[in-house]
Amino acid sequence: MSIISIEDLPIEGERVFIRVDFNVPIGKNGEVEDTTRIDAALPTIRHALRKKSKIILASHLGRPGGKVNKKLSLEPVGKILAEKLDTEVILTDYPVGDVAEKLAQDLGKSKILLLENLRFDPGEKKNDPAFAKKLAGMAEIYVNDAFGTAHRAHASTTGMVYHFDRKGAGFLLAEEIRFFQKLLKTPEEPFLAILGGAKVSDKIGVIKNLLDRVQSLIIGGAMANTFLSAVGVEMGNSRVEKDKMVLCKELINSARARNIKFLLPKDLVIAEDINSKAADITTLEKGVPPNMMALDIGSATREYFAEEIQKAQTIFWNGPMGVFENPVFAKGTNSIAKNVAENKGLTVAGGGDSVSAINKAGVFDKFNHISTGGGASLEMMEGKNLPGIMALL
Ligand code: 3PG
Repeated sequence: MSIISIEDLPIEGERVFIRVDFNVPIGKNGEVEDTTRIDAALPTIRHALRKKSKIILASHLGRPGGKVNKKLSLEPVGKILAEKLDTEVILTDYPVGDVAEKLAQDLGKSKILLLENLRFDPGEKKNDPAFAKKLAGMAEIYVNDAFGTAHRAHASTTGMVYHFDRKGAGFLLAEEIRFFQKLLKTPEEPFLAILGGAKVSDKIGVIKNLLDRVQSLIIGGAMANTFLSAVGVEMGNSRVEKDKMVLCKELINSARARNIKFLLPKDLVIAEDINSKAADITTLEKGVPPNMMALDIGSATREYFAEEIQKAQTIFWNGPMGVFENPVFAKGTNSIAKNVAENKGLTVAGGGDSVSAINKAGVFDKFNHISTGGGASLEMMEGKNLPGIMALL
């Protein structure tokens, strides 16, 4: 069985429920700080507009805990959407209920109704059958285009889906699945994975699954601290997950036994804390002094990683190499963004931090695919079946 594309669903003039992921960063003044996820959903919405569908869009925003929280209203998202599509977007007062249901019922062709934040109702996260039924009652056809939320078994991604005979994937979801399947099933070799970010514990499943697939693995960011500590490097005041040191050693040995190159930093940018305005550099032999912490990869490591990136035919990147929000510690992450962008093979990145680093480096268009999913892209790379995708089968 395969997933039906929105292109093959009879949505002409019909009431279509489209689950999107408009979980975007909202600034202090209530403004949308990054529209990547909204932009990524536009092709599907435009297609439904062309087909004169009655469009019901639904998303969560943040984690309001099952209660109405005006700061997490989808209102600013609706405004941006209306501007981008040059059409009216009607926002409901609550995701379900009399008002939302009447608006859905009376919706005209080529009109857009945006349901208020699904997580204002506790039924969304609980995958409550009654809430799912109410959502499903609003439309005749279901489309999921929310890859970023596909790893959550919630009412709008799973519970309601079983009420529909006619259901399928939007363009964004289909595109994400296509790229991840290519990475996991038929990657051109050598396949290199670059993992960074804060914690080893977030990436254990990914590393284990990738050890069967990649020819080389680069580890950077704070998670590299635990690996370095595990091989005897003095890490000073750096963030180290002591309870994961044995596991790190096992992962290194397991890579070695399979002839997989396991690249760890060779030198580190160090400072007293993440807000420091100046930094020092140290080698693995010298280690990190007790009052200092590792906050980025050093210049020798940047070159070492760049050489490996050049050789790869397929690259998956998730997670920064340092505390890139502070320009003093951003060189490592920037150099990964630029070097991967220059690679002529298949290049895929995922995770909010990597995407914002790619944007900062101005190389967004040079990647073959930039995933809109953080947690979802990692779970895909772990080889898990995502409930939001399974529900469409
Ligand atoms: C995300 O941003 O990863 C998705 O929108 C899911 O959000 P969540 O982690 O709050 O479930």
